[in-house]
Amino acid sequence: MPIYQDQILAPLPTHAQFLTFERKLGGTAKPSLLALQSIFDNDSMLVGLGVSLMKTFNCVIEGLKPMPSLQSGAITIPTSHGALWVRVSGSDPGETMFSAESVIQAVADGFVLTEQVPAFTHRQNRDLSGYEDGTENPQDDDAIKTAIIKSDKRGINGSSFVAVQSWIHDIKHLKSLPQTHQDHIIGRRLSDNEELDDAPVSAHVKRTAQESFTPEAFMWRRSLPWAKNGRCGLQFVCFATSYYPYEVQLKRMIGMEDGITDGLFEFSRPVTGAYFWCPPVDASGLDLSALI
Ligand code: HEM
Repeated sequence: MPIYQDQILAPLPTHAQFLTFERKLGGTAKPSLLALQSIFDNDSMLVGLGVSLMKTFNCVIEGLKPMPSLQSGAITIPTSHGALWVRVSGSDPGETMFSAESVIQAVADGFVLTEQVPAFTHRQNRDLSGYEDGTENPQDDDAIKTAIIKSDKRGINGSSFVAVQSWIHDIKHLKSLPQTHQDHIIGRRLSDNEELDDAPVSAHVKRTAQESFTPEAFMWRRSLPWAKNGRCGLQFVCFATSYYPYEVQLKRMIGMEDGITDGLFEFSRPVTGAYFWCPPVDASGLDLSALI
């Protein structure tokens, strides 16, 4: 039986809702977490806990911290944090919405919803820009090694760190650019996903080439497109055994290494960002033994 939350490695769902919560003033977190544990479904839910929540339980998860706000030139990477993060998913948008509602109700005494993002897959694994996303994700055992923490400690073994970031796209601007320019922003050809040898150093896949970092910076990406109130973008989600891959890649993307900015910023910007720790599972469901 897997000891990690199945949805970390499962294929991307066709529909999802991303829910972020903060602690409710005067509320108590423990009964809400137990209520969440009682409705947890490993086939359709992903749960992450923020560092502020862990502090409530005097629990220190080595490596868990608040997402740092980074800045370079004209780019600021905002952070929004969060005490609790849940992704519910399914094949039907209505059922997924109702699952989200049951989570919100289950934790209502201890947590207040601060963000709800409806997400979905687009033409299998494509970002709304049209480009395939996830091609260079590690495969099979490498994916497990990349995303899932191995530890001697029960309650930690099988857990994972996740970085979540909402990006807003300006698709109209992107699609007004010549096709070659768009391909050079990503570093891959839209038509066949081929990596371009002649892409500029600012191309996204050149900035983030995982084996080009020392040490190498592999991550397991599970991002999904989102759309709400006339805006759209990518809910960037990456899992790893530490925040090292996310941080070194983002620093290079915003030009902190060499002053060169990732082409993505020509049409997209992150507007929220938070780190969470995804506890493992055991035979009875979500394993919260590290904190309660
Ligand atoms: C608007 C936000 C983003 C979009 C639309 C986007 C899209 C893409 C696309 C289309 C690819 C090429 C195919 C693939 O290998 O998946 C890619 C690769 C990649 N992206 Fe992103 N991405 C975004 C944000 C980020 C961020 C914030 C990071 C890290 C902090 C990141 C890390 C990576 C990595 C590691 C790769 C694979 C690079 C390689 O080893 O070839 N991406 N992304």
